Amino acid sequence: MNRLSKRLRSLISFVSNEDSLVDVGCDHGYLSIYLKENNLCKSVICSDINNNALNSAISNIKKYNLNIECYLSDGLNKVPMEGINTIVISGMGTSTIISILEDKEKLKYIDKIILQSNNNHEELRRYMNQIGYYLKEEKYIKDKGKWYISMLFLKSENVNSVLELKYGFLDNDYGNYLLDSYKSICKRIPENRLDYKKYQEKIKEIETIIN
Ligand SMILES: C[S@@+](CC[C@H](N)C(=O)[O-])C[C@H]1O[C@@H](n2cnc3c(N)ncnc32)[C@H](O)[C@@H]1O
Repeated sequence: MNRLSKRLRSLISFVSNEDSLVDVGCDHGYLSIYLKENNLCKSVICSDINNNALNSAISNIKKYNLNIECYLSDGLNKVPMEGINTIVISGMGTSTIISILEDKEKLKYIDKIILQSNNNHEELRRYMNQIGYYLKEEKYIKDKGKWYISMLFLKSENVNSVLELKYGFLDNDYGNYLLDSYKSICKRIPENRLDYKKYQEKIKEIETIIN
């Protein structure tokens, strides 16, 4: 497979060849296929809650003649975790991601979690700190006109700063995108509304981070 979307490619740089990973919610399986085909990790398995999605992964895996185990599973429920040290979850919302990571027993030997959530990034960063994973790095990617955040968490007792939990590590491009969004919200809402102040505060914080 030679083409992987920019969005999925951004996850690859967080994977190393010591990782034995499970791609939860693999859908088409493109990420796992790319990793296996290019020997970018030690091992990879695929899982999805949806039969059609998993079947599409299975048929793509056959097409590329690869040996990747696939499991029909709600989150990690049916996934055998022996030897697995890394979890990848991308293309879902924060509440689904949190529900998948709720089973602490399944996370016992997991030292790396790579996430790409569609929403509520601050809530996700906070939750990850609570369960013992530190935000090490983020990548901000614009793919087909939409922004995505890829997050790398490592098992650690360290916690991130308040600003890191709110905004990650922000690069200039994504920071400016956020600034424009918040400034345009402020133009649309009356100054005496409660959240006007909240957005003004965000604007100040982001300006401090990126300047
Ligand atoms: C939008 S797709 C993303 C696919 C791929 N990870 C990506 O980033 O391109 C979301 C996939 O997650 C699966 N999914 C949703 N909730 C799940 C859960 N609780 N456990 C496992 N898979 C789930 C869906 O069936 C779907 O195939």
